[in-house]
Amino acid sequence: IQGNQINASGHLTIGGCDAVALADEYGTPVLVYDTAKIRHQIQAFQEVFEENEVDYAVCYASKAFANTAMYQLVNQMNGHVDVVSAGEIQMALHAGFPAKKMTFHGNNKSEEELRLALKVGIGLIALDNFHEIALLHRLLEETGGRANVILRITPGISAHTHEYIQTGQVDSKFGFDLASGQADEALQRVLQEPRMTMLGIHAHIGSQIFELAGFEGASEKLVDLAARWARDYGYQTKILNVGGGFGIRYVSADRPLAPQDFVNLIIQTVKQRTRSLNIPTPAIWIEPGRSIVGPAGYSLYTVGARKDVQGIRSYLAVDGGMGDNIRPALYDAKYEAVLANNPLAPVMETVRVAGKYCESGDVLIQEQALPQTKPGDILAILNTGAYGYSMASNYNLNVKPAVVFVENGRSTLVTRRERIDDLERLDFNLDGSSRA
Ligand code: LLP
Repeated sequence: IQGNQINASGHLTIGGCDAVALADEYGTPVLVYDTAKIRHQIQAFQEVFEENEVDYAVCYASKAFANTAMYQLVNQMNGHVDVVSAGEIQMALHAGFPAKKMTFHGNNKSEEELRLALKVGIGLIALDNFHEIALLHRLLEETGGRANVILRITPGISAHTHEYIQTGQVDSKFGFDLASGQADEALQRVLQEPRMTMLGIHAHIGSQIFELAGFEGASEKLVDLAARWARDYGYQTKILNVGGGFGIRYVSADRPLAPQDFVNLIIQTVKQRTRSLNIPTPAIWIEPGRSIVGPAGYSLYTVGARKDVQGIRSYLAVDGGMGDNIRPALYDAKYEAVLANNPLAPVMETVRVAGKYCESGDVLIQEQALPQTKPGDILAILNTGAYGYSMASNYNLNVKPAVVFVENGRSTLVTRRERIDDLERLDFNLDGSSRA
């Protein structure tokens, strides 16, 4: 946190709002987004393209965090979005997001989802496999429509990140394999489809990547492919979509490049390679999710029970956990916390921050140095804006938290906390009768 994030009461502030007051007003756990940070990051991506004078789109990968207000914010910033389900498409549309600026991704889009995408006039479909080409072909014949498509390629690049979030390696469920000729076969099929307009190539090598080499390698492979396709099939690539995956700083020890610096490197690589292979530089599209929302999110929790295990450690339990942030349990993800009601208090001990879920693995932070705490204190876990709320569950029938946007000292509730009756609404009695 920044020094200017402490107010006169000695509390943490987020977007100019007192974190303790936010916890009071909205209850805990609550996920708070500093929307100025979101805007700045989107803008930083856009600026690096403008400076380099290339055509581009910044497509926010909405799987990282999606609600109505977020789609509206991205729309205000003239961004595009990456959507991966009927749910994301519908919510974006209802939020007023133009279908033309959506790219539909996924390795098993259903017939229903593709029908919806065609009906609303989605901008781009990222074709992932042969089954999908055949399915889209049938739907287009049936409806008499047209679709803009790109082909998702598995470039055969292993990014150095957690195995669960690698996607570019050969042994992956996503995309057409490059080495075995699948990608070429896919191109030939699509070029024969009068109802499909083939716009370009897509690759996404993984998430939370720190090394430049993976992005460089993937960009080179995509340009090489575009050059070869121009030569062998007379096909000119219009869009080169390099995916997302730009790593962010979760804990103080992380020292990543700024996300826009990764993008700058990608742009330089693509420009140089296209020049030397003598093909026009296509538009470059990126799909950042985590880097746009991750650092902007703060999870506020209330401290409750404590258990001291003699000679080993102390557990400090908060009122949320793996239901609102599964990442530590699932990926061994690391976070840091500050005591929101007194961030400057001297550090007294190292504790393990546990959740409230009935599972030993429900630990949010393995080791956190903290001031002395007491029940009722407010703990803020930092950088929780990506893949926390969007992967939240109702495990143990806990409700999902509220989401609040803050900026310039004003807060807005953008997703209300679930209530038990939201969950009960889906249920019927034992005899099948309605509960109403
Ligand atoms: N584009 C495509 C096609 C993707 O599959 C993804 C992420 C992105 C863009 C955005 O990647 P980002 O910039 O957010 O790294 N749940 C995991 C991350 C899964 C990422 C899935 N695909 C986590 O919590 O780390």
